[in-house]
Amino acid sequence: MRKKRLVEGTDKSFVLVVLAALIFGFSFTNTEPEGLFVTPSLYRTGALESNHALPFILFYNKWSCIRLVLVRRGVFSERGIIVSKVINLGNVTVYVEDSYEALGARAADIFAEALAAAPTGVFGFATGGTPLSMYGELIRRYKAGALDFSGITTFNLDEYYPILKSNDQSYDYFMRENLFNHINVPTDRINLPNGEAPDPEIESRRYEAAVRASAGLELQLLGIGENGHIAFNEPADAYTNATNYTSLTESTVQANARFFASADEVPKHALTMGIKTIMLAKKILLVANGAKKAEIMRDALLGDITPRVPASALQLHRDVEIVLDAEAASAL
Ligand code: F6R
Repeated sequence: MRKKRLVEGTDKSFVLVVLAALIFGFSFTNTEPEGLFVTPSLYRTGALESNHALPFILFYNKWSCIRLVLVRRGVFSERGIIVSKVINLGNVTVYVEDSYEALGARAADIFAEALAAAPTGVFGFATGGTPLSMYGELIRRYKAGALDFSGITTFNLDEYYPILKSNDQSYDYFMRENLFNHINVPTDRINLPNGEAPDPEIESRRYEAAVRASAGLELQLLGIGENGHIAFNEPADAYTNATNYTSLTESTVQANARFFASADEVPKHALTMGIKTIMLAKKILLVANGAKKAEIMRDALLGDITPRVPASALQLHRDVEIVLDAEAASAL
């Protein structure tokens, strides 16, 4: 009886993977992405201490990756996971869209669903080029009367430091210009790290406390840097726990120079939510487009979980939706 229930409750494709593994004599082990299991250093940071589902997620992730490898090798091609453009990695679902506009519409769908479920919830936003098509879509739906932001509280991931809010390169300015000024979110419930604060360490602590005192992030939107950073958590030896004052790497300064007159003008420091702050969100929505993001998406989703690839921590989150265009998905 117990055995029967176990089989019925198991994803059929898992059973097929096990059978295929037996038939092929585990020949796939050579190509299986390595290192999906949590590293001791990850535990040491305490970054994931609240994730009670961790053992299950790790197990599920492991065999989901094996399944993905089998699909790529044509063993399960008839299941069409790639063809259907939804790649299911267990706790992580990857949508592959045909265009940047379609990416924005899909991400807006996911956001709208979370908003409908929690109309007075706390939502985390991001800046950068990638979320712009999603923000355009959210504004369009708001203006069409389909979305209402009047009940929500917002927290942004990060802000340059020091920077004046009036500077058109500040993230405060970016958010007002590209989203907040066009929707009905109450201004007194909009939160960003303050790039004008006199002391960045005190400001980091204040911001972390504000996030923690909130009802908890329903959804945190993320982009990803070409070096795997999420927010401004750059590749490092350990994951960050809380909001912190950090230096930007040269690669991030160069990547962001496109928004400034020259690379010299890009601020070299920032205030950023920590990896743990992000991981505590109930749902993560990550968007990425373009060939420049292809390799890092592969490393983040299928490679080692390591603070050298900060986004790889998302493999351990229980509910992640990732929206890519075909170019960003090309190495998966
Ligand atoms: C922005 C942020 C960054 C960006 C990342 C990707 O708030 O936290 O991590 O998401 O640098 O930027 P784009 O979208 O410009 O490629």
